Amino acid sequence: MFDARILGTGSFLPERIVPNTELEEKMDTSDEWIQQRTGIRERRYVEEGVGTSDLGLKASQRALRSAGLTANDIDFIIFATLSPDYNFPGCGCLLQDKLGIGNIGALDVRNQCTGFIYSLSIAHQFVRTGTYQHILVVGAEVHSTGLEMHTRGREVAVIFGDGAGAVVVGKSSNDQRKILSSHLHSEGKFAKKLWIEAPSSIQQPRLTKEMLQQGRHYPRMEGRYVFKHAVDRMQQSVREGLEANNLKLSDVKLLILHQANLRISEAVVRALKISPDRVFNNIQIYGNTTAASIPIALDEATRQGKIGSGDLIVLAAFGSGFTWGATVLKW
Ligand code: UT7
Repeated sequence: MFDARILGTGSFLPERIVPNTELEEKMDTSDEWIQQRTGIRERRYVEEGVGTSDLGLKASQRALRSAGLTANDIDFIIFATLSPDYNFPGCGCLLQDKLGIGNIGALDVRNQCTGFIYSLSIAHQFVRTGTYQHILVVGAEVHSTGLEMHTRGREVAVIFGDGAGAVVVGKSSNDQRKILSSHLHSEGKFAKKLWIEAPSSIQQPRLTKEMLQQGRHYPRMEGRYVFKHAVDRMQQSVREGLEANNLKLSDVKLLILHQANLRISEAVVRALKISPDRVFNNIQIYGNTTAASIPIALDEATRQGKIGSGDLIVLAAFGSGFTWGATVLKW
């Protein structure tokens, strides 16, 4: 078995900034409500015609640069998204083509906000066994084209934003930026607490005029319910990851939580009884970018010098499924 480490990180956010005040024009909401309930001030939206794989490409190019590698060095792609360009094929294949590299394997991961944690754990195992040398792990989302921009959809619409993050995972020749372990969970009985129902393969046709009128093709969430589970599960995941490695909360330099809601991060901090400055947050300016939020945050924390050599980092996520989990890293 080999050790696996993160060789480089990258992120990409679309240029178009959408402040809360712009949403006030489309639905019954207010900048004050959004900031108080979520911490979000603004998010980014793509321009027309830009897809999730395009954002993934930009983040990947930056991650490759930071790893000192080129696209041709990559021998496997893992792409986490809940908003693929098409129902099929997945974004991994599209990214393989856009990178202009050989016929390497490309896997799409459908684990919503926990997608990046699941993807990182798969990359870890492939590198550990020596199957692949350099794996590109991407989390990217375009939410803006799929939100109900009216009062009926406001609970969800104000939260989500577009963006992408990526890392290159490879064999470790030293102890830096090492992946120690990942811990994955799901609880499918809560699938409908946060979901998009249509188009659905259990119906024929999969999408009808009636479904469109009822807005069943938009994400729906029982916000308070999801909130409570997010806090419980993320803090449990952090503890599970630390226990598995015989580590303590006091060993953690930085906690990078899925950026679901600033109040969720604050509640996890309270539950873990750690100081707020040991948790990284950027939801204020990007909103919730689901599978992209952790790799974006990891890239920014690295570039802002918040993580240094030897620091212990815990990544934790929770999302639709329900799915949740954590990854422990020694930077
Ligand atoms: O990333 C995957 C995981 N996702 C999450 O973890 C998200 C979890 N949930 C949340 O972040 C929060 O539950 C929300 C931000 C979605 C909602 O915040 P909340 O504090 O739980 O509000 P609430 O759902 O209890 O609603 C409070 C009130 C309601 O009105 P009434 O019934 O008190 O009259 C809502 O209708 O706020 C209303 N409301 C809004 N008002 C203005 C809901 N959405 C909005 C809105 N603007 N956008």
